[in-house]
Amino acid sequence: MEILFKNIKELIQVRTEPVSFVSGKEMNELPTIKNAFLLVKNGLIADFGSMDTCPDVEVEEVIDAKGKMILPAWCDSHTHIVYAGNREGEFVDRINGLSYEEIANRGGGILNSAKKLQETSEDDLYEQSKVRLEEIMQLGTGAVEIKSGYGLTVDAELKMLRVIKRLKEYYPISIKATFLGAHAVPAIYKNDKQGYLKMLVDKIMPVISKEKLAEFIDIFCEKGYFSVADTAFILKAGKKYGLIPKIHVNQFNSIGGVEAGVKYNALSVDHLEVMTEYDYDVLKNTKTIPVALPSCSYFLSIPYAPARKMIDAGLPLALATDYNPGSTPSGNMNFVVATACIKMKMTPEEAINAATINGAYAMGLEKEVGSITIGKKANLLLTKPISSYGFIPYSFGSNQIESVFLNGEIVDL
Ligand code: NIG
Ligand code: FE
Repeated sequence: MEILFKNIKELIQVRTEPVSFVSGKEMNELPTIKNAFLLVKNGLIADFGSMDTCPDVEVEEVIDAKGKMILPAWCDSHTHIVYAGNREGEFVDRINGLSYEEIANRGGGILNSAKKLQETSEDDLYEQSKVRLEEIMQLGTGAVEIKSGYGLTVDAELKMLRVIKRLKEYYPISIKATFLGAHAVPAIYKNDKQGYLKMLVDKIMPVISKEKLAEFIDIFCEKGYFSVADTAFILKAGKKYGLIPKIHVNQFNSIGGVEAGVKYNALSVDHLEVMTEYDYDVLKNTKTIPVALPSCSYFLSIPYAPARKMIDAGLPLALATDYNPGSTPSGNMNFVVATACIKMKMTPEEAINAATINGAYAMGLEKEVGSITIGKKANLLLTKPISSYGFIPYSFGSNQIESVFLNGEIVDL
């Protein structure tokens, strides 16, 4: 299938030289071409440039994008979209005054989702999860990371990972899987956390490796969940099975998890709502990218990750949704980009970089997606007619996307 997009008002995030990620001041630079063309061949970006240089080629489809813009599809590097049921009861409990921690301490939270998931069949879990996957594709996400972590038993964790694998095989969206067995300590291991961690390593990791069920390893490094020593134990074990760390840290407390992430070469450290000066320092000049999850802060009314301070300190930053039933029941990257601008004082340029090229890097997909570059996947957002790309975050809550293309095919679900 060949498509030629013509008269594009502005082609956004064009990178002729390969870029892994952008940091600090570079985040405020968003390369674009005004009045552009874009040629798609065999699902890939084949050519692009100014309309003056538009080639005279025979193609199956020509799309006149007059007044409209094209940008790379969003790269959502942190989600938990494979889950069973929902937790709107806890949402009402929080409205009535309970905190997220209080709900978790009463057996709600992650353990509540784990109970539901353990009782759900693999087929049912697939059916429930695919609805969310299709939803985010329609909202413009072209690459997504999905975690396990609501199983907390051998069978239920593997069930989650097999569902992710099925989604990966069936849908055109790029998917990366993460093993998050260390998301919470299940009730039967309440007094034997080490036994639980050992079970994850001895009973689940070998199967993950054999069936190629995950690329990444994650742990919730937080007071009341897992310590820095637990984090080191799990990341080291994961490494033996070829799993690259991406960890949940500093959501409520800074307990040294960022440093542990950097020490074990984590690809990303995610959440970061609570940061110390030391945390900024350990991240500088490393390959570990910070990931902020503004929809989680919005939903839980907790502080936003200090994006301005991180970027001003020269760090890179990626943005992701954290789509999950407890802290963020939303997978809308358009809302994430808008919230990053409105609440975290990121510029539209910074937010778009964070949600495309930097998000791709946070999934190890920077060579395949995240920018308009020849040879990358034609994962594209065609906007409605808009005045400027800043209109996308400005008009928060409205949808400015007219169509989404994944591997050069329109998403029509
Ligand atoms: O990333 N913080 C840990 N895990 C999820 C939320 C889990 C839940 O409440 O179900 C998160 O926010
Ligand atoms: Fe999360």
